[in-house]
Amino acid sequence: MDAKALFFYALLSFSAVSLRPALANNGEDPGLVMNFYKESCPQAEDIIKEQVKLLYKRHKNTAFSWLRNLFHDCGVQRCDASLLLDSTRRTLSEKETDRSFGLRNFRYIETIKEALERECPGVVSCADVVVLSGRDAIVSLGGPYIPLKTGRRDGRRSRADVVEQYLPDHNESISIVLERFGAIGIDTPGVVALLGSHSVGRTHCVKLVHRLYPEVDPVLNPDHVPHMLKKCPDSIPDPKAVQYVRNDRGTPMILDNNYYRNILDNKGLLIVDHQLANDKRTKPYVKKMAKSQDYFFKEFSRAITILSENNPLTGTKGEIRKQCNVANKRHGHEEEEEP
Ligand code: HEM
Ligand SMILES: *[C@@H]1O[C@H](CO)[C@@H](O)[C@H](O)[C@H]1NC(C)=O
Repeated sequence: MDAKALFFYALLSFSAVSLRPALANNGEDPGLVMNFYKESCPQAEDIIKEQVKLLYKRHKNTAFSWLRNLFHDCGVQRCDASLLLDSTRRTLSEKETDRSFGLRNFRYIETIKEALERECPGVVSCADVVVLSGRDAIVSLGGPYIPLKTGRRDGRRSRADVVEQYLPDHNESISIVLERFGAIGIDTPGVVALLGSHSVGRTHCVKLVHRLYPEVDPVLNPDHVPHMLKKCPDSIPDPKAVQYVRNDRGTPMILDNNYYRNILDNKGLLIVDHQLANDKRTKPYVKKMAKSQDYFFKEFSRAITILSENNPLTGTKGEIRKQCNVANKRHGHEEEEEP
């Protein structure tokens, strides 16, 4: 083969990999299935698990990020890794919104993706990386192992301006929260269980100062207030100092039902956390989860499964990104829109 032929051969096999649609032998789109990569990349799920473990050893907070990513990606239209895309010259991406405040560790998602690319180039989607890293992070944090389907493909766009229509704010009413999650098939106990994620990680003072200044929110447990004031000493937090309060002072690194005892004790940091324990629709489930970790885990697993299956791109839709922060370069049809 001469140099030119070799070049075209390389180009052809390269695009054959990255454009290979996810179809079954009969040419049909199987949708999401268990172990989607069993033929195309049998070690995929193990590679992700291994990377999540290695990263967790080095930076414990990566696990918080993988769990939160699952909500912020799948909760906005669909699980398509649109959360991971950088802004382009024309469009501000989801990461850049106020709702995404505090999201971190994006560069380590690329570490996971790079490990997959080394073994199976162009095969495993970033959308599946988001979901499976979230699943494995839950285990790192002491939560349940949740078997989840795969076969998601990556979206090509990410738009900051749609995020607020999907993700509730820190001070949203329970009615809106139930409505937003209800729209993707998650019922009241499912919502209560998902918010149990606030059993780990942190909340920055910018999201809390309105509960402390000019007056302390009278519903806050007075025993918790001095700690919050110490962590957030200024009514306008210094943007350069990273000031935050841990979501669960008791067991900050463990995904457990301590969250429910905290919020029943009026130690919930966010207004939504507080209201979850005080709204008559959600309070019975909060009490039940505070009593039974098994019940919390059962509902949590069910709700994470529904969230992870929200409206995916499968079959020939979307693409398999090479790098999770940028859509692949396209030739010819630049103007094509995602549905
Ligand atoms: C009503 C729904 C929700 C609201 C309003 C909300 C809001 C927030 C806010 C404001 C923070 C603090 C961010 C910061 O200051 O750095 C946070 C943290 C967090 N959220 Fe949520 N959240 C919601 C639901 C969820 C769900 C469903 C999950 C997971 C399935 C989740 C997982 C997390 C995690 C793990 C953190 C800690 C992140 C870290 O420490 O890096 N949240 N959330
Ligand atoms: C919620 O907080 C934001 C600031 O983060 C504020 O702009 C908004 O008005 C608040 N909404 C409600 C319903 O209190």
